[in-house]
Amino acid sequence: GAGELAQSLGYGVYAVGGFVRDLLLARPNMDLDLVVEGDGIAFARAFAEQHNARVKAHHKFKTAVVIFPDNTRIDVATARLEYYERPAALPTVQLSSIKMDLYRRDFTVNALAVNLTPGSFGTLVDFFGAQRDIKGRNIRVLHSLSFVEDPTRILRAVRFERRFEFQIGGQTLRLIKNALQLNLFNRLSGARIFHELQLIMEEEHPTDCLKRLQELKVLQAIHPLFQLTAKRIDILEELEKVRTLYTLLYVEPPVTGWKLFFQGLTMNMERNEAAQLLRRLGVAPREEREHLSTREMVGKALGKLMQWREGVSRPSDIYFALERLPLEGVLFLMAKSRKDAVRKHISQYLTTWRFHTLEVSGTDLKQLGLSPGPDYTRILRRILAAAIDGEAPGR
Ligand code: CTP
Repeated sequence: GAGELAQSLGYGVYAVGGFVRDLLLARPNMDLDLVVEGDGIAFARAFAEQHNARVKAHHKFKTAVVIFPDNTRIDVATARLEYYERPAALPTVQLSSIKMDLYRRDFTVNALAVNLTPGSFGTLVDFFGAQRDIKGRNIRVLHSLSFVEDPTRILRAVRFERRFEFQIGGQTLRLIKNALQLNLFNRLSGARIFHELQLIMEEEHPTDCLKRLQELKVLQAIHPLFQLTAKRIDILEELEKVRTLYTLLYVEPPVTGWKLFFQGLTMNMERNEAAQLLRRLGVAPREEREHLSTREMVGKALGKLMQWREGVSRPSDIYFALERLPLEGVLFLMAKSRKDAVRKHISQYLTTWRFHTLEVSGTDLKQLGLSPGPDYTRILRRILAAAIDGEAPGR
């Protein structure tokens, strides 16, 4: 489809980037990125028409997103023709535009394309040794100014290195150290750093990435308070396990990685220190307030859970300690709880208790002749507690 269409418009079309990298690594990837040598937006419109899809175009960047009826998306970019001034008397040369497009990318392993144009369909386009680096398991930049152009690539290098269990190459490591010495992070907006950190916390093993970033002195370059301690590492690792368990068992609501892991990263910080760190990262005031209040509620709930004794305390006390917490706060408490019984009840809370709806309603109470008021809530909550304690095993 795409290749024939591009050809009929006189364009070339390529699949590029992570999709191709993951193809060679035999890892699933649903994010198809296309680069068109020609007018990317015109191509996207024609392609969408053929497939009953919609198009969102960004004229400034000459890019478009094709959105299919089932909500899958394909990103389409335009490979601009670029002219290189050669020194001395050599004429200006026009580089193949796909080559220029690939040259602008972050790492060799991402600078790979597959030609989709009929006649060349399926040909790998590899100008920069991407296949060599995938085989050798290396993360390497394409040129020495890569991190100067975009310091967030330092975070990306570590994310890919840990995800694929690759190694950042020696020269690339030196360039990272140079970039840090030049304080390039100081000029970077919090929001851009935070975006990359969010992606890290959606990885399967964010703790490995964070440890590596600490080793490379990247965390401290972002903010002096951004520090892993042995205790924080322990809890981060526990949080990973708890999240895996949760995502295996339940689908809704999804866990937001950063909201979970920042509970661990800001552990044993003063409230105002946590606030400073979040502000450096450009976290929106509303999210900042939410994080700080979750931290506080978690602290109180933790006190209650520590005192909880199997066979003595009531399971419903655990319910009441958790009921106002966001999901990430509940998962953090689960990671923090060393007692099996407490963990078991937290997991019961996640599977069933939090969905409990009472069989008895306010109307029922009214029909029993009880007058409306604060008593209603009290009675309803006692019934709920009885339901929880009654069904909890061991009581
Ligand atoms: N890219 C870049 N510099 C950045 C961000 C992205 O050069 N700071 C390039 C990369 O070459 C990447 C492409 O843009 O392949 C698309 O970016 P993204 O979707 O973030 O990368 P993926 O490689 O698809 O990453 P993931 O597997 O995490 O989706």
